[in-house]
Amino acid sequence: MFDHNVDQQADSEGDEIAISVTHATKVFGRRPKEAAKRLKQGATRDEVKPLGTAAVIDASFDVRVGEIFVVMGLSGSGKSTLIRMLNGLGETTDGAISVFGSEIVGTAPAELREIRRTKMAMVFQHFALLPHRTVLDNAAYGLEIQGVPLEERRARAQQWLERVGLATWSDSFPSELSGGMQQRVGIARAFAADTQILLMDEAFSALDPLIRREMQELLVELQQELGKTIVFITHDLNEAMFLGDRIAVMRDGRIMQLGTPNDILTDPANDYVAQFVQDVDRARVLTAGDVMEPPRAVVPTSAGPRAALRMMRDLQTSACFVTSSGRKLVGVVRDKDMLRLVREGGSNISDALKPTPSIVSPEQYIAELFELSVESPLPVAVVDEQNRLIGVVPRVTLLASLTNLPTMTTEIPIIEPTPDVPRAIITATLDATTDGNAAPGGSSSLAEGSIA
Ligand SMILES: Nc1ncnc2c1ncn2[C@@H]1O[C@H](COP(=O)(O)OP(=O)(O)O)[C@@H](O)[C@H]1O
Ligand SMILES: [Mg+2]
Repeated sequence: MFDHNVDQQADSEGDEIAISVTHATKVFGRRPKEAAKRLKQGATRDEVKPLGTAAVIDASFDVRVGEIFVVMGLSGSGKSTLIRMLNGLGETTDGAISVFGSEIVGTAPAELREIRRTKMAMVFQHFALLPHRTVLDNAAYGLEIQGVPLEERRARAQQWLERVGLATWSDSFPSELSGGMQQRVGIARAFAADTQILLMDEAFSALDPLIRREMQELLVELQQELGKTIVFITHDLNEAMFLGDRIAVMRDGRIMQLGTPNDILTDPANDYVAQFVQDVDRARVLTAGDVMEPPRAVVPTSAGPRAALRMMRDLQTSACFVTSSGRKLVGVVRDKDMLRLVREGGSNISDALKPTPSIVSPEQYIAELFELSVESPLPVAVVDEQNRLIGVVPRVTLLASLTNLPTMTTEIPIIEPTPDVPRAIITATLDATTDGNAAPGGSSSLAEGSIA
């Protein structure tokens, strides 16, 4: 199981590291050091139980600057213990933890407070707002403990309240706010403190689903805008998949798997993780970029109608994408139109160019692709910011991606839209005409009616 950790650490080479955790163990109880020693020698969590509760066992991972690193696991799996080890709120029994190069384990409390104040803000599940302070002074709290003068911290906190949609609530007290609004104050407070790292322990778990989704979206938006490093704890795999750049799945104190949402979904490390992912709403986790296939039915604008027609015949499809130089997507052409052009002796496929029916970016969730896919005879086109055609999502791939089968095997056939024009007619037309020339008169004997 630790192979997964090793892989991830190798992948991270060259990325800047915010938090580094090396063989970290935490045991609560009477003889934690002895328990940690036995665990190292191979004892199980149950075997050391008489010595104490092993809440975190041999955790190793790096959190990269600017990522949302999710720790996911059932209640009691050790998530809260782990996050409290990161900022020194909880002691580490064995192993090493550093934050931007500063050692956390074994560091004096005063220094740890300083690290928390300047480097790591925390957001809790139950908001932890101060009841007798106004919303504004709650939002300003992190700045207050940093020693920022009153006027300045209130001004900065007010900006954050505006950012989270609470501009008019600054003078209210927490008890006047709904749960969702209180957690917005918690977020404003954490962001106002302007630390590079945010630690969030089940920050949205107490909120109802709609508010929760809103908060998740707000967090992703703020993170993208500000490039914060976020360690986010949740017991909800859908939340983990939505937020996480990478996810560590914990069970009984151990990290069972560490990987991207896609890794975990498509290649669960063991039965435990596999059971978890069965319940995931894949359509909201997988993106077009995750499931797309290389585009096959593509012709350049410079291609003539004969080449386009031949490609469609060979791929058994009724339409193909047209790209200009640099693979920029300019539209689609249909077999019927190409057949007509060939017969008329036309040489420019742009004369019959149609707009691409469905285009998405690689980041779009496949939930958004279904409607598009139903409306279009062609696979959904995936284009990058430069409008380059980087992939296609055929309908069958979309459907396959929702099952628990491996989604990206080559065994799933790529089904192109069936041709409108019978193959024999295309072949006969191509044979009866010649490249680059007007069709000989004979070709008109191919009855137009037979292909309508
Ligand atoms: N202060 C503590 N004293 C003793 N045991 C604790 C303490 N805090 C947590 N534990 C135990 O450590 C394990 C992990 O708990 P926790 O980190 O809170 O899990 P999670 O956040 O994943 O629900 C549990 O078995 C829990 O009972
Ligand atoms: Mg917890």
